[in-house]
Amino acid sequence: MDMTEVVLTHHNGTQAAEMWPDIYEVYRAAFGRPPHSQAEEDFRNFDDRAHTQFQQNGFDLVAARKDGALTGFSYGHTLPSGSSWWQRFDPPLDPAFAMETGTRTFFVVELAVHPDCQRQGLGKAMLTELLRPRTEERATLASNPHVPDVQRMYERWGWEKVGRVAANTPTAPQPFFDIFLLRSLRSSGA
Ligand SMILES: CC(C)(COP(=O)(O)OP(=O)(O)OC[C@H]1O[C@@H](n2cnc3c(N)ncnc32)[C@H](O)[C@@H]1OP(=O)(O)O)[C@@H](O)C(=O)NCCC(=O)NCCS
Repeated sequence: MDMTEVVLTHHNGTQAAEMWPDIYEVYRAAFGRPPHSQAEEDFRNFDDRAHTQFQQNGFDLVAARKDGALTGFSYGHTLPSGSSWWQRFDPPLDPAFAMETGTRTFFVVELAVHPDCQRQGLGKAMLTELLRPRTEERATLASNPHVPDVQRMYERWGWEKVGRVAANTPTAPQPFFDIFLLRSLRSSGA
């Protein structure tokens, strides 16, 4: 794919909800096959989970379109003040590190590229564009422990693994996640 033909655009939560059928289709195509092969139930849960996330403070979605068709997306939001995101670690993290103020940390919730368009630079371009305008100090994401290639991709882009935690909802697609941190949003390798 010629990246010059790909258009990246930012969208708020209302616009993301309007784009839902296309987002769902790309998510299903990206996560429905190996190495993820997520179950049918996970796709049903994605609907509820995503629509809650669309309403969070600091939400932003970057869409990639080629000839008008959605080929990938990435979205996230700011961790709210008092968020329990870091509280599930055992042993506990330093309280100063774990403190969320409502402006400190950007949570990258999803990154997905349609399988027909993967390995052509789109994932990297979308994440770079999602993080570029952020004003938070740092970013975090949860990654599937069974997909080490993707974890190595994040590490090459400057993210570091902080630890493994149990999922915070019973409907999460994995029982455990590896939590990654980009310590400074001004030094992203992506
Ligand atoms: C992971 C994903 C978003 C990457 O998007 P992409 O457009 O294929 O990635 P890019 O072409 O921008 O490549 C980015 C980098 O990752 C590497 N890479 C991408 N997919 C890879 C894979 N499956 N295995 C190994 N390396 C991979 C590329 O070589 C490149 O490395 P570099 O930055 O060091 O040059 C995409 O493959 C995808 O949607 N996968 C399924 C869903 C998923 O795993 N999402 C992430 C959940 S945390």
